[in-house]
Amino acid sequence: MKQPLNIAVLGAGLMGHGIAQAFAASGHSVAISDPDPNILASALQRIEANLRDIGKPAEPVLANIAVAPSMAAAVKSADVVVEAAPEKLDVKRKLFSEVAANAPPHAILASNTSVIPITRIGEGLPPAARARFLGTHWWNPPYLVPLVEVVRTEYTDPEVFQRMFDLLVELGKRPVKVHRDITGFIGNRLQYALWREAFSLIENGVCDAETIDIVVKNGFGSRYPVLGPMENADLIGLELARDIYDIVIPELSNSRPPSRLLSERIEQGNLGMKSGEGLRAWTSEESSAVRRRLSRHLLNLFT
Ligand SMILES: NC(=O)c1ccc[n+]([C@@H]2O[C@H](COP(=O)([O-])OP(=O)(O)OC[C@H]3O[C@@H](n4cnc5c(N)ncnc54)[C@H](O)[C@@H]3O)[C@@H](O)[C@H]2O)c1
Repeated sequence: MKQPLNIAVLGAGLMGHGIAQAFAASGHSVAISDPDPNILASALQRIEANLRDIGKPAEPVLANIAVAPSMAAAVKSADVVVEAAPEKLDVKRKLFSEVAANAPPHAILASNTSVIPITRIGEGLPPAARARFLGTHWWNPPYLVPLVEVVRTEYTDPEVFQRMFDLLVELGKRPVKVHRDITGFIGNRLQYALWREAFSLIENGVCDAETIDIVVKNGFGSRYPVLGPMENADLIGLELARDIYDIVIPELSNSRPPSRLLSERIEQGNLGMKSGEGLRAWTSEESSAVRRRLSRHLLNLFT
């Protein structure tokens, strides 16, 4: 590492605590804050548990993390601020206006929004802060998944964009540059295009949710770690890719309203693993086992 930086992470939930862990594991000095005292109080324990799960010593990482009593305290000497607050435009806008007033004038300001255009979040910021404002979209769990989408707006200083990119490379991440600030960036646009078709297949009685997962995990998904979809197009040959594209694309769902299936399940209180049932039923042992298998798989792939 070139030089340890002061990193402020705002929001200590699922993503925030993992992002704090990733910076701290690289030797940076991290201050983490959250308006919910219970979530903040458990952040270090959750980081310790993550490190235990992946067989890494906790002490050197925890020694680099301080729990800050407020947002202002967390950002006051920050070189980089990463926001991981709820996915609500008004919350993020208000938070960044306060961050801009409290952080040093050189600090890079980054939002971990999943899909909200960065430009919309930064609309109220003073021009000097807008030039230091960008998106860094991490993936869960952030200390294991390498990808971070770095998103620039038309106001982002190109030097700041590059500096954030380089910092993530130093962290051992695999950042990519997103040059146009579009809703959902790259990864979630791809992911949700697939999900729309999956929900449509289930709604139309073609198969059930379990079959979707069997098809993806045992079929084209099994190739993804070594063969991306664009590489696959080259592998099968572009004439075949075009022939299949021309036949299948006009048949795919292009539905714009929210998925009927998703809305029905939510209305029934079936919210996924956290409520014991979503698209299928989950015991707490089954959901813990899936999480453990995922960690192990990602560890094998990337460490
Ligand atoms: N969950 C994922 O897989 C995932 C992946 C990539 C990006 N994201 C994005 O990361 C962000 C955080 O998501 P999460 O899954 O960690 O949510 P989460 O609900 O687990 O955590 C959000 C935290 O923000 C705190 N918070 C509320 N108001 C705040 C404020 N004003 N300032 C600071 N913190 C505040 C909450 O108390 C909570 O602890 C969202 O924008 C989400 O879309 C999530």
